[in-house]
Amino acid sequence: MIGEIHRFDTVTSTQEAARLLISEGRAKAGDVVLADSQTAGRGRFGREWRSPIGGLYATFLLEDGTLLPLSAGVAVALALERFGLKPGLKWPNDIVIDKKKLGGIIVEKVGDIALVGIGINLSTAPLKGSTCALEHGVMIDRDTLLEAIRAELEAEREEGEVLASYLSRSVTIGLRISVKRGNLPPLFGIARGIDEEGRLLVETGLGIVPISSGDCFHLLSRGG
Ligand code: BTN
Repeated sequence: MIGEIHRFDTVTSTQEAARLLISEGRAKAGDVVLADSQTAGRGRFGREWRSPIGGLYATFLLEDGTLLPLSAGVAVALALERFGLKPGLKWPNDIVIDKKKLGGIIVEKVGDIALVGIGINLSTAPLKGSTCALEHGVMIDRDTLLEAIRAELEAEREEGEVLASYLSRSVTIGLRISVKRGNLPPLFGIARGIDEEGRLLVETGLGIVPISSGDCFHLLSRGG
């Protein structure tokens, strides 16, 4: 469902702007909130998302779905591939090239609407360990990318197709990882797969543990 684009020069966070617009009855599923910059862009786990002018900062208002965090990653990867980039997906949905972060996705809920917040570094890499499209020789027009992401997010895909597309781009599967989950001790193991609910299957000394949410770190050696 293609809706309105709510455009702003600057906002604290497009996630917050989307919440406000929804609470005022001015935004609905299908709409997008887009800003040129954010003063308090948010990443997962309360991290900051640096948002200087020149990047893409958007929140897509979508109907919720089981595999949404993964299908959003697939949609962004497919959109970037239209521009000649070859991004990988670090579980659950970091967009990476050569182990550096090009973009990130956060999924939040307001009632039955999912707020899919997407940030992509286009012309500057704001942090050590991040990259941008320009560093890979690709100059991307933000609004053209926005439309490409929107089209990919709105495309109908069977769950099996989402999982296959996700797995073919995963840079996590097969690696030794640790996963931080709230106050629990970190879980160490080898990422072995993704189940039909989108959970990461981690092989530990105690067997396979399915993880639905957490902060995943790639460790240096490959899994056996
Ligand atoms: C992450 O990798 O931790 C997720 C980053 C998500 C950043 C985007 S930018 C647009 C939207 N507004 C925000 O405040 N965050 C998301």
